[in-house]
Amino acid sequence: MKVLAVSGSPRAYGNTVHMLNAVLDVCREAGHETELFQAGGKPVRGCAACGGCSVHIGRCAIDDWMNDLYAKMKEADAIVLGSPTYFADLTPEMKAVIDRCGFVAMRDGRALSRKIGAAVSAVRRAGGLTTLDAMQRFFLISDMVIPGSTYWNMSLARDPGAFELDEEGIHTVRRLGENIVWLLEKLNA
Ligand SMILES: Cc1cc2nc3c(=O)[nH]c(=O)nc-3n(C[C@H](O)[C@H](O)[C@H](O)COP(=O)(O)O)c2cc1C
Repeated sequence: MKVLAVSGSPRAYGNTVHMLNAVLDVCREAGHETELFQAGGKPVRGCAACGGCSVHIGRCAIDDWMNDLYAKMKEADAIVLGSPTYFADLTPEMKAVIDRCGFVAMRDGRALSRKIGAAVSAVRRAGGLTTLDAMQRFFLISDMVIPGSTYWNMSLARDPGAFELDEEGIHTVRRLGENIVWLLEKLNA
């Protein structure tokens, strides 16, 4: 099975990427194929509300990196989104991923239906739940299945590397990885 992680942090070696890698490590150790897609830092175009995805099914009319990402999402069995908390919310990159890939998938026969969706957020102090909630709402309207963990999937971390010192955060995201693996095996038994 394929597990795709998408980072919305512009910091390629920041806490969000480390959290996503911790989830992917567990999936890889269990024999699944994994990939990390770095969306953070790429030029961001939001949904143009042009309706192009209703005409050219499976593609966004804005022909940039988002179409590559959508193709990867469509192939994946599980999708893990990660965004740092910015002003108690998603980064613009992650918001664009949700709006554009979300609409393309809806018009593409609800292509994300019954895939597994999980979210993580790095946060210095507050607002992490709102960020997680925004990503989880995307999974819910996309007809996806969300596994849990033993805490909300956050790490209280500010500077890059701080996640590695957050024992509870590490445990939480590793358990999330274990639950993704468990669910993948149940859904595909
Ligand atoms: C523009 C901006 C806004 C932020 N807003 C918040 C916030 O609302 N709450 C908070 O606790 N931390 C906030 N932070 C801190 C980041 O969430 C924190 O440093 C996080 O670890 C960054 O993740 P990264 O290393 O993956 O980029 C903000 C950081 C930036 C750059």
